[in-house]
Amino acid sequence: MENEKNRTKLRYRFPSNFWWGSAASGPQTEGAAFTDGRKSSIWDYWYSNEPECFHNSVGPEHTSNFYHQYKEDIQLMKETGHTSFRTSIQWSRLIPDGVGEVNQKAVTFYNHVIDELIANDIEPFINLYHFDMPMCMQEKGGWESREVVEAYVNYAEHCFRLFGDRVKYWFTFNEPIVPVEAGYLYDLHYPNVVDFKRAAQVAHHTIVAHSFAVEAFKKINAAGKIGIILNLTPSYPRSEDTADVKAAHIADSFFNRSFLDPVTKGEYPEELVQILRDRDLLPVVEATDLEVIKNNPIDILGVNYYQPRRVKTKEEPVPKEAPFMPEHLFDPYIKPDRKINPHRGWEICEEVIYDIMMDIRDHYGNIPFFISENGMGVEGEAKFRNEESYIEDDYRIEFIQEHLKWVHKGIQEGANCLGYHLWTFMDNWSWTNAYKNRYGLVEVDITNNFKRTIKKSGRWYKQLSENNGF
Ligand code: BG6
Repeated sequence: MENEKNRTKLRYRFPSNFWWGSAASGPQTEGAAFTDGRKSSIWDYWYSNEPECFHNSVGPEHTSNFYHQYKEDIQLMKETGHTSFRTSIQWSRLIPDGVGEVNQKAVTFYNHVIDELIANDIEPFINLYHFDMPMCMQEKGGWESREVVEAYVNYAEHCFRLFGDRVKYWFTFNEPIVPVEAGYLYDLHYPNVVDFKRAAQVAHHTIVAHSFAVEAFKKINAAGKIGIILNLTPSYPRSEDTADVKAAHIADSFFNRSFLDPVTKGEYPEELVQILRDRDLLPVVEATDLEVIKNNPIDILGVNYYQPRRVKTKEEPVPKEAPFMPEHLFDPYIKPDRKINPHRGWEICEEVIYDIMMDIRDHYGNIPFFISENGMGVEGEAKFRNEESYIEDDYRIEFIQEHLKWVHKGIQEGANCLGYHLWTFMDNWSWTNAYKNRYGLVEVDITNNFKRTIKKSGRWYKQLSENNGF
C-alpha cells in the first residue's frame, strides 16, 4: 500500500520487471585465492612478482571474502533492493589447469551462490571472464594463442552445462577491450606488452572466443540469453569542424565499434579494417573466423558506461618511425567546462548514456540491452562516515539519479533497455587500484575483518527498487 502511494508520486517510473541490481566479479570479491584447489591467474602471478604495482601493495589474495560470506552478502543484496546481480566465474577456480579436470569444490561454491541468489528472488547474471586469465593459459600465450581460445570455449561449455539449468543470463566477457589496451598497448596490466599488432591479435582472438562460446551455447540449447558486456565510451569531437569530427569517428571505430560491430552485426567496421590494412597491422585471421563471427550475434548487450571520450584532430605529426598507436590518428581533448568526479578524476556527463541508448536503437537494431555498470568511485570515502557510523554518500545517490533520468528518457523514446546495474554491490578490490576507489552500496572495512556496512546509497537503492523509480 505504502509503495502504491509512493509510486503515484514518482517522476521517473520504470517499466515493470526492470532489473535493479549491481555488478561485481569473482576475482574482485571472492578472496580465498588459493583455497579449495584454485590456482593462479595472471593477477596472482603479477602480484607475487611486483606487489609495488598495486595500490598500497594490496593484492588479489583476500578480496572481500565473498567465498566465505556469500550468504550474508546475499542478504545484504536483498536489503539494498537487488532483483538481479552479476558476478563472474573464475576460470582459475573452476578448471584450475585451464583445461581438463573440473574442480568439484568450485562447482559446489558456484552452485551455492546461484541457488542462494535464486532463493532470495535475485536473478543471477553470470559472466565468464573478467580480465582474469589463468596463469597456466598465459604461459601458453594468453589470447595470442589459438590453443587458449579453444580452452576458453571448453571452459564456457562446462559452465553452460553445469549451471545453465538455473542461470538465464550469460555473458562471455566483461570489457574485453581492457585486457587489449591495458595488457598489450598502454603498459598498465600484465603482461605489459606494448605492441599494436599483438594487441590486434588479442582483440581478434577474444572476439573469436566469444563467438565460438555463443555458438556452443546455442548448440547445447541452453535456455536463456547470452551476450557480452562492453564498456562504451562514445567519442565526441572538440568542434563540428570536419577534421575533429573525422578524428572522433576514427577513435570510435577503435574503442567502441571494434567490439560492438562484430558481436552485434557480425563484422568489423570496414574503416577500421582499412586503417589496419594500410599499415600492415591486421591480425592473423583463420579461414572460418569471419563466418563464426557472422553467424553468432548476441541476444543481449551489457553496456558499461562511466565517461565519454573527447578528441580533436591530431595537432603535431607523429615521427614516421614511431610504432603505431591509435592516438597517432587523433588527440585527446579536455572540455574546459566539464563536470568532474573530484574523488576519481573522471568526467561525469550523464546525457551520454542517452546518446548510447539512441545509437543502439537507431544503428544496432534496437537489440535488448541493459546498463550493466555505471558508478562513482571515491577515494578516501571513510571521511564521509556519519555519527551513526555509516557512509553518507549523497553524491552517489545524485550520480545515480542524474544518470537514471537520461535512461528513463531513452526508454520513453523506444530504447530497449531492460535494467540498471550499479558498479558495485560492495566496495571491492580493483586491479592495480586495489581498494583505492570505493564504488559500493555497501562499505567494506578492510582494516576490520572486511566488515560490511550499508551506505546511505544502499538504503536509497532499496526504495528505488521497491518503487521501481524515484
Ligand atoms: C570497471 C571494471 O570498468 O571499472 C571493474 O569492469 C573495475 O572491474 C571498475 O573495478 C572500477 O575501476 P577503478 O579503476 O576505478 O577502481
